[in-house]
Amino acid sequence: MVKSLKIVVTGASGFIAKNLRKYLSEKNVDLISISRSEFKNFNYETKIISKNYNEKIILEKIKNSDVLIHLVGIGKQSVNTDYDMINTDLTKHVVNLSKKSKITKIIYLSGLGVSPITSLGYFISKYNAERQIIDSGLDFTIFRPSYIVGKDDLFSKHLKKQMKSGEIKIPGSGKYSIQPIYVSDVVKIIFESTWQPKFNNKIIDLVGPDNVTFEKYVKLFSKGTKTKIRKINLENAYHNAIINSKSDFGIDDLNILIGDFKGDHKKLSKISEIKFQSVMDLLQSGRLL
Ligand SMILES: NC(=O)c1ccc[n+]([C@@H]2O[C@H](COP(=O)([O-])OP(=O)(O)OC[C@H]3O[C@@H](n4cnc5c(N)ncnc54)[C@H](OP(=O)(O)O)[C@@H]3O)[C@@H](O)[C@H]2O)c1
Repeated sequence: MVKSLKIVVTGASGFIAKNLRKYLSEKNVDLISISRSEFKNFNYETKIISKNYNEKIILEKIKNSDVLIHLVGIGKQSVNTDYDMINTDLTKHVVNLSKKSKITKIIYLSGLGVSPITSLGYFISKYNAERQIIDSGLDFTIFRPSYIVGKDDLFSKHLKKQMKSGEIKIPGSGKYSIQPIYVSDVVKIIFESTWQPKFNNKIIDLVGPDNVTFEKYVKLFSKGTKTKIRKINLENAYHNAIINSKSDFGIDDLNILIGDFKGDHKKLSKISEIKFQSVMDLLQSGRLL
């Protein structure tokens, strides 16, 4: 491994960023992490706090770093914060900061289902972010993840919250599938992609070895508890998502589930040469949560 790698991470307080920063700090990587608000730093980690990724605050500090890992993103929008602003425009800004500070590579987490023919606003914003990165002339690796799970991920938190109420709801048939991937595998791959040239200038699906229906996943998730599983009418689920910003499933949560997108795990496995953990095995053995 290249010993003196200097890595910048954006969106430092997020789920993946927290796991990644811990992993990198354990590897003694020289780390600079950027967040909108105060956070506790690890060993070998410099922190930068900036609400709007202000160039004046950031540029001098990240100058001559090697790689930037961009982990800012939103999956739900409001009148104050929409997909274009955060997923696309902030990515453009971060790409410009990277170029000005002579960073040579960007790693970005897009989304499984992003494609040039998508008609979904969320995916369009991620697609346009991908374009910003590809057109930047910098080296890049773009990952398109399915559900990344581990301790405290949003998807599991959402299911746990429902379990507490005694019932998990499945919108529609529950026959659409997901390919969950374990966060420990994800941070390993992201790290590998910071220094291994074989990851350069590629778009790779970030999906685990299991391809499982949502219904099967939920059943295993709640195994051994008294949780009821109830299928709810899809029209009602969408209606709720449209009229209530705090509904169990947001509009794009539903779109992504029902979209039933499939990723290429074999390609990921071949390029990374990592032995992936099966999230279903982790759930079965109680080691996931
Ligand atoms: N987790 C998954 O299963 C999954 C699946 C597909 C794609 N992804 C993508 O992977 C990336 C990281 O995901 P995650 O699960 O770690 O998400 P997360 O926990 O929600 O973290 C995203 C981070 O983005 C930053 N952010 C949010 N709103 C912002 C705003 N208005 N202005 C500036 N920064 C803002 C925040 O960082 P600070 O609070 O530190 O400022 C936040 O912690 C995202 O781009 C996401 O779309 C994740």
